[in-house]
Amino acid sequence: MDQAAGTTIVEAASEELQEQFRRDVLAGLSQQQKVLPARWFYDRRGSELFEEITTLPEYYLTRTETGILAERCPTIASLAGKARAVVEFGAGSVAKTPILLDCMDASSYVPVDISGPFLRDSCERLQHRYPHLPILPIEADFTRPVDLPDIVLEEEVLGFFPGSTIGNLQPADAVDLLRVMRGTLGNGSMLLIGMDLIKDRQRLIAAYDDASGVTAQFNVNVARRINRELGGTIPIDRLSHKAVWNDRLARIEMHLEAVCDLSFEVCGERFIMDSGETIHTENSHKYTARSANGLLLAGGWDPLACYSDKDAFFAVILASAITPGVTA
Ligand code: AVI
Repeated sequence: MDQAAGTTIVEAASEELQEQFRRDVLAGLSQQQKVLPARWFYDRRGSELFEEITTLPEYYLTRTETGILAERCPTIASLAGKARAVVEFGAGSVAKTPILLDCMDASSYVPVDISGPFLRDSCERLQHRYPHLPILPIEADFTRPVDLPDIVLEEEVLGFFPGSTIGNLQPADAVDLLRVMRGTLGNGSMLLIGMDLIKDRQRLIAAYDDASGVTAQFNVNVARRINRELGGTIPIDRLSHKAVWNDRLARIEMHLEAVCDLSFEVCGERFIMDSGETIHTENSHKYTARSANGLLLAGGWDPLACYSDKDAFFAVILASAITPGVTA
């Protein structure tokens, strides 16, 4: 117990998170184009559904990136230099992290994730596999500067940000995040980042509208979460999942579309939706090799090498931190 009122730090943090959720939902549903930040997809059920998405035949991203890493990690390790401390943004996925750790001969592994339980699970699994590797988890929001342990700062650091999660941010926010990561990792650091590439729209749309309906469940789950956690009355069965390719902005958008006129409450506030109106729930930006490089440069990272698969579906880019005052 730390606070006068008798609440624990964990309870206070989760209350603050709940309050942010409430604010985001009420503000988002009040806009003309209703919108919900994609970060709220990931409650326990949402995280499970996302894991399932990564195994779907239509969702090429995960297996393609894993294939690139498996093939290219030895080269990446020799370019980056072995024995770096590896700092992963988002708790390590079962498949990808070991590929990198095996090749890097990492001096320590520092996963940074906002979800404590998820972080602890992945660390336990990894510690079994690498009994001698110092694993130093940090429970934190990596969109803000994170203080790395002193022993890590004494090493050369390699940041790892797989999955094309960067694509879920608007370009300006993506640049901000890259700059924050640059600040967290420090001078001399490198970043290995996964970015999904623009390809034919049928394939892109299928990846976000799979035949078995898992992505539809993932999308609708955010409305279920609102009903459960914010006393909402959203009629779930009157919303349909929609994935569209926005060519001008080079992104897949996910929406929840009202199949008839709707009226519902959240936290005692009333909202209406006309039939066909949508709630915009996610953007997933796609890149060309050049647009990816431009984003990295704007974010303080000099792209050194770009690895892709034979179909050019996905890119894994190794970049080095730009030193202030030095032009890339
Ligand atoms: C986490 N992120 C990179 C996924 C993506 O592809 O944008 C989230 C996702 N949304 C629908 N399917 C997967």
